[in-house]
Amino acid sequence: MSGGDENALIVEGVYTAYDKADVLDNVSLRGEPGKITCLLGSNGSGKSTLIRSILGLTPPNRGRIVFNGTELTGLPTHKIIATGIACIPEGRKVFPKLTVEENLRLGGYQEPSADVVRKRLDHVYETFPQLKERKEQVAGTLSGGEQAMVSIGRGLMGAPKLLLLDEPSLGLSPILVKENFNTIRRINEQGVTVFLVEQNVRQTLAIADYGYVLSKGRVVAHGTPEVLGRTKEVHEAYFG
Ligand SMILES: Nc1ncnc2c1ncn2[C@@H]1O[C@H](COP(=O)(O)OP(=O)(O)OP(=O)(O)O)[C@@H](O)[C@H]1O
Ligand SMILES: [Mg+2]
Repeated sequence: MSGGDENALIVEGVYTAYDKADVLDNVSLRGEPGKITCLLGSNGSGKSTLIRSILGLTPPNRGRIVFNGTELTGLPTHKIIATGIACIPEGRKVFPKLTVEENLRLGGYQEPSADVVRKRLDHVYETFPQLKERKEQVAGTLSGGEQAMVSIGRGLMGAPKLLLLDEPSLGLSPILVKENFNTIRRINEQGVTVFLVEQNVRQTLAIADYGYVLSKGRVVAHGTPEVLGRTKEVHEAYFG
């Protein structure tokens, strides 16, 4: 492992299929350590499938995925998570009948020390003061924006090195979308590498350091936000 690959996410020549439907077609990309890398693409282009491939939920048929020098391909999901990865899945599921704090504690289940769990809870409450006020409330009665905070907070409870986010702002009002992006930026500033799947092109490119565009399972463009914002692939993916 070269020094530059520490905490890097490396996807190389990945092919992933469901039953007989081929989805990812030779996908290669890199999530740079300490940076925000985004993945754009129209509905059905394979973005969530790539996240599922990274997590080993739908393992690739070919290619390799490496994080922080560890080959993830072939590992079971819990071992992949244990390399320091947290995922905020599409639809940001919370456990509706559990309280905010119970939801958050589930994200720290791999941490044996109660002191450490307490510290991480405090850190999440610092990041999301609104959750502290509502820590005894059952999560199913929270607003959509608050549920998004719980979902991200739960991810942070594992003190991840890499945070995968699958359309975290989907369904949020414009003001909450803005807050959501600010939160992602703050988490990244604390040293967490971010891999962000999003539909909000403008706001995503405003916080990302680098990006890729997926179309029909292939990477059709990549570059800095300045470059990507001008490519026809981004316009085709989102504006027809
Ligand atoms: N469990 C599954 N079984 C069969 N096909 C699937 C399955 N999940 C996804 N697909 C198909 O794989 C393709 C890629 O889906 P995926 O969910 O990765 O797209 P996406 O880019 O995340 O789209 P969206 O922006 O709508 O979330 C789609 O054609 C979808 O119908
Ligand atoms: Mg998706």
